[in-house]
Amino acid sequence: MAHERVPQVPGQMLRRLRRGHGDMEASREPASRASMLDTALDLIIQATGVEKTYDTGKIRVPALRGVDLQVRRGEMVAVMGPSGSGKTTLLNCLSGLDTVDAGTILIAGRELAKLSDNERSEFRSRHMGFVFQLFNLIPVLTAVENVELPLLIAGVKPAEARRRAMEALEQVGLARWAGHKPAELSGGQQQRVAIARALANQPEIVWADEPTGNLDTHSAEEVLALMRELNRRNRQTFVIVTHDPRIGAACDRIVQMQDGLIIDDGLLARG
Ligand SMILES: Nc1ncnc2c1ncn2[C@@H]1O[C@H](COP(=O)(O)OP(=O)(O)O)[C@@H](O)[C@H]1O
Ligand SMILES: [Mg+2]
Repeated sequence: MAHERVPQVPGQMLRRLRRGHGDMEASREPASRASMLDTALDLIIQATGVEKTYDTGKIRVPALRGVDLQVRRGEMVAVMGPSGSGKTTLLNCLSGLDTVDAGTILIAGRELAKLSDNERSEFRSRHMGFVFQLFNLIPVLTAVENVELPLLIAGVKPAEARRRAMEALEQVGLARWAGHKPAELSGGQQQRVAIARALANQPEIVWADEPTGNLDTHSAEEVLALMRELNRRNRQTFVIVTHDPRIGAACDRIVQMQDGLIIDDGLLARG
C-alpha cells in the first residue's frame, strides 16, 4: 500500500513507557501512567477483553469472545471477516451503541460504559459520526436538512447548523444537491449525504458499517475515495466494516474477525 503510515513505536520503548520513566516516575498512579502511554501512542480506541453474548431467551450467541483492539488517531482501519463473525457487534460495542458483558473500552481516553446514558449520547454526538449500509436518510427531508438534523438535536443554533451542513455537503461535493430529497439522488449521492451528516459535527471517529454494501462499483469507488480523502485531510479516524477487498486494500490496516475473535489485527504484517 502506497500511502503514508504512522510510524510504529518500538517494543522496547513501549515497555519503558509502560513501566514509567523520567517524568512519569513522579506519578506512581497506574491510571495516569496508562494515560501517559495513550498520549505517547495517541490511541483513540483501546478495547481490552471485550465479550458480548446475545441472549434471545432460547439461545445464547457469543458474538464477541474476548476482543482486544487498539487504533491510533488518524488511522483508517478496515474490519473484515465472514458474515456473523461479530463485525457489526464490535462496531456497536466500541461506539457505545451497545453494552458489553466483559472487558473495557476507552475512546479518546474515556470509558463510555462509565457514563450515564445522557452523557454517552452527548459524547457520541460530539465525537463520533456513523455511516450505515442503508444510508438511513430521512426521505421527507432534503439533503441539507438530513445533514443538519443531528446538529439541531445536539443543540446547535439553526443558522450555525445550516452553515455547517452546507460546508459538509461541499466537502462531499454535493452542495448543488442540498435542496434535493434522497429519492432524487443516486445511491452513491445518498451515501455521500450520509457521510456529510456523519462529518457535520467534525467527529474524531467515523464508524462505517458496510458503507458500500448497497452501491454499484462506480459509486463504491467514489465513496471510498471520499472517505480516504477526508481521513487524510481532517485526520479523522475511520473504522470501516466491509466485505469489499478494495476498501480493505485502501485502508491503513485490515483487522480480520472470525467467530467473535480478531484473528489478525493487521499489525504483525506491517513492515
Ligand atoms: N440482536 C441480536 N440478537 C441475537 N443474536 C444476534 C444479534 N445481533 C447479532 N447476533 C448474532 O451475533 C453474531 C455476530 O453478528 P454480527 O455482529 O451482526 O456479525 P457480522 O456483522 O460480522 O455479520 C451472529 O451469530 C449473529 O447472528
Ligand atoms: Mg454486520
